[in-house]
Amino acid sequence: MPENPSAPATPPWSSRPGARTWRCAPAPAEVRDFHAALPGYAPTPLIELPALAGESGVGRVFVKDESCRLGLPAFKALGVTWAVHRLLAERAASGTEPGPVTLVTATDGNHGRAVARTARLCGQRAHVFVPRGVHPRAVAAIVAEGAEVTRVPGPYDEAVRRAAGAAVARDAVLVQDSAWPGYERIPGWIVEGYSTLCAEIDEQLAATGVRAGPDLVSVPVGVGSLAQAVVTHYRGRGLECPPALLAVEPEAAACVLASLVRGAAVSVTTGETAMAGLNCGTPSSLAWPVLHGGLDAAVAVPDSAAARAADRLSALGVSSGPCGAAALAGLRAVLGGAGADERRTALGLDAASVVVLLSTEGPSANPHPLSGR
Ligand SMILES: Cc1ncc(COP(=O)(O)O)c(C=O)c1O
Repeated sequence: MPENPSAPATPPWSSRPGARTWRCAPAPAEVRDFHAALPGYAPTPLIELPALAGESGVGRVFVKDESCRLGLPAFKALGVTWAVHRLLAERAASGTEPGPVTLVTATDGNHGRAVARTARLCGQRAHVFVPRGVHPRAVAAIVAEGAEVTRVPGPYDEAVRRAAGAAVARDAVLVQDSAWPGYERIPGWIVEGYSTLCAEIDEQLAATGVRAGPDLVSVPVGVGSLAQAVVTHYRGRGLECPPALLAVEPEAAACVLASLVRGAAVSVTTGETAMAGLNCGTPSSLAWPVLHGGLDAAVAVPDSAAARAADRLSALGVSSGPCGAAALAGLRAVLGGAGADERRTALGLDAASVVVLLSTEGPSANPHPLSGR
């Protein structure tokens, strides 16, 4: 039994038997080629950490390190670049809107910075709505990309409403990484863009001799778009032995966990968390059916667990911000504390299992002080 004294007695957790047999259509194959042709593109590292495998009682643990992705300290540019490419191509093809466009969005930090950077590189404008709780340095990074920033004195969901309102202006387009009924096309492209991350993992695992793919992937979750991309990747290709997929949320904003428990998408009132990118109260409407079908489990972790996970990763040479470290915090919560054996069985893990943790940001993306070290 792995030792994990820091895990809560019983973590907030939900699992769904049968998720591994759920199937969906795959992401379009051309996304990877698009990213590969971008200036500055390189696959992010997949780092094996044998010490974590020993601590977790599994065979091998790999961390996908997104601390430097297309020059930014989080994975988000994968989705934004592909979505903006599709959007601008469509506008050019229609021939009706030749002038510059303002890309409008709301953000907990990383997505807005990626929108601002992409707008600048494409010669467009950006207007970014930032809710309370985002670190001033993360806001300054968006401003430094040349974007107009509007601060919203409310939670993330309120910032999304404000951005959607602003995007009705002429020559403005909402580029949001979450969908709702009637607004699904651009978020769908963003999710497609994230597929490159999973394609890289396949190639990198194969290069290390892992032929059958991972047995568990642990994903930090805000609105669930990244997790949607992960589920789509592993449930969309008819794999013989598809991995278990685990969603990890902050206790202060566990909307996907609450939705899985309820069996229907629900909004939760969010609180404060250092995991700023995960501080979302409503699952994306596009993501929800995919997560409901194809996620094996969801777990919620406190900031203190993310802080300890970030420390452990740092000691092993991987720099993660709070959201990035959540993937390890979730694994530890699942494999430790009361009921750990049942949770391990629910995820199908044994001493030979291969685990991939998505460390979705580096520390500079989200410089919140982490409590609980
Ligand atoms: C660093 C980081 N990790 C994970 C996520 C979660 O992604 P999603 O909101 O698609 O669930 C975000 C979202 O902003 C993020 O910034």
